[in-house]
Amino acid sequence: MKQRILSGIQPSGVLHIGNYLGALKQWVELQETYDALFCIVDLHAITVKQDPKELRAKIRELAKLYIACGIGPKKSTIFVQSHVPAHTELGWILNTITKISELERMTQFKDKAGKNRAHVNAGLLCYPTLMAADILLYQTDLVPVGEDQTQHLELTRTLAKRFNTQFGEVFRIPEGYFPKAGARIMALDDPTVKMSKSGAPANYLALLDDEKTIRKKVARAVTDSGSEIKAAHDKPAMTNLLTITHLLSGESIADIEHRYRGKGYRELKQDLADRVVDFLAPIQQRTRNISDNEIETLLQEGAKRAREIASQTLTDVQRVLGLG
Ligand code: AMP
Ligand code: TRP
Repeated sequence: MKQRILSGIQPSGVLHIGNYLGALKQWVELQETYDALFCIVDLHAITVKQDPKELRAKIRELAKLYIACGIGPKKSTIFVQSHVPAHTELGWILNTITKISELERMTQFKDKAGKNRAHVNAGLLCYPTLMAADILLYQTDLVPVGEDQTQHLELTRTLAKRFNTQFGEVFRIPEGYFPKAGARIMALDDPTVKMSKSGAPANYLALLDDEKTIRKKVARAVTDSGSEIKAAHDKPAMTNLLTITHLLSGESIADIEHRYRGKGYRELKQDLADRVVDFLAPIQQRTRNISDNEIETLLQEGAKRAREIASQTLTDVQRVLGLG
């Protein structure tokens, strides 16, 4: 039996090169050897206010992007979280064994909630228990994500162990899978913070940005003081641009540094812009070529398979709890 992987991305904001290099790129490789499920986590997205019409469109667009980036609809199961009600049910159940202090400690919660907690919605606080449900429902072995999800994964493992200890062995304990490089791609306009979906447009290179926009954003990317093209602690901007170049080309950072010896930032940026444009063109073309009908059918089939797996775990959970 193949081991199983599961991961997900929120259908909010714009999918960027950080999402691709930190998550999707690994998914594409892992789907060859694992039983793979990829989720569009729409219920996570509504922890922040969304426009319903836009959300609906974003869910379909993200499904198209999964495929355009190389997720094989025949190899992997692609589905929408809200199409499988077991996620919310297990999420609720996990809330009952989670301490508020464990949730309040999460960096992502602290970042998103800010200082004034009185008006923060409870969904934002309980976000990680829903994520734990996403993972545990499928008896997942491996969860390929970017570095920012480490804490959520650790909590998922804690909750799975706690549940198993209190009620009986129901859940497999999942492991995180992080890329060696690219687990944290930084913002173009500020290399000390991560590239983010909800950041200003100058922050990210979106997978659907047109050529002109990409060239402009790369040209304007913040650089370090000095002029040497080198990855180093005190050169966060260069480190980031070299990492992106490395991940898109496969060339080692040392080789890239060597090739640019005596050359300027401008040259590196121009080459990087060319590379990003060449890399994104076929992805954008494939996204346009997938019809809305194809996506609807695919998501229905995906949800059917996901529901079958999820309902088995949920039945076990209900049984040991005395429910159902
Ligand atoms: P999100 O954009 O928060 O929905 O994240 C979707 C996936 O992309 C998760 O696995 C994240 O860890 C990953 N990810 C998001 N931003 C970055 C980034 N700047 N660098 C690397 N991975 C990222
Ligand atoms: N919390 C993840 C993020 O913000 C998205 C996510 C939700 C996820 N459920 C998941 C990732 C399950 C992996 C597995 O990026």
